Amino acid sequence: MAILLAPMEGLLDFALRDVLTRVGGIDRCVSEFIRVTDTLLPARAFMRVVPELRHGSRTPAGVPVRAQLLGSDPVCLADNAASLAELRPAGIDLNFGCPARVVNRHGGGAALLQEPELVHRIVRAVRQAVPASMPVSAKMRLGFNPSPSWPMAKSGRWQMPDAAAKHRDAMT
Ligand SMILES: Cc1cc2nc3c(=O)[nH]c(=O)nc-3n(C[C@H](O)[C@H](O)[C@H](O)COP(=O)(O)O)c2cc1C
Repeated sequence: MAILLAPMEGLLDFALRDVLTRVGGIDRCVSEFIRVTDTLLPARAFMRVVPELRHGSRTPAGVPVRAQLLGSDPVCLADNAASLAELRPAGIDLNFGCPARVVNRHGGGAALLQEPELVHRIVRAVRQAVPASMPVSAKMRLGFNPSPSWPMAKSGRWQMPDAAAKHRDAMT
């Protein structure tokens, strides 16, 4: 079992990743989310959130860091993922778990779990946009609402990323 360090925007930045991975016990980190809207982000935008990209996408202790993208437009996410891939991240993680209202209002994060087909299109577009050797993972909750229906699981669509880190709790 791999131990992943959960991303926390505004809190768990490269400095804290450095400290915590020096302590040990962490197999992989995911960066805070990088918001993708309708533009192609410059390399410096990725570097600002994931300075580890300058050092083989690893913390000084050598733990790999995947860059996390947050957005809801498959084409724009794929274009940005392709650009990010040129910086050779240890992998690209997609955010389908953020419960913040300000994010969900724009259709991103956990709100996407209500639209399994869109999640599928995003994952497929990003997977196809980056080299096959580059891991693509997704972080998600069991569902947007604390409902037993769990539309993502029922859709059978979420096997497509190389790994899906599922949050234990449904959103409250
Ligand atoms: C301040 C804060 C920032 C977070 N930022 C991110 C993020 O950038 N990407 C992400 O996938 N999850 C993010 N999360 C979610 C955490 O990684 C984790 O899944 C969550 O905090 C677990 O418990 P919860 O359901 O009580 O929030 C954030 C959580 C908090 C509290």
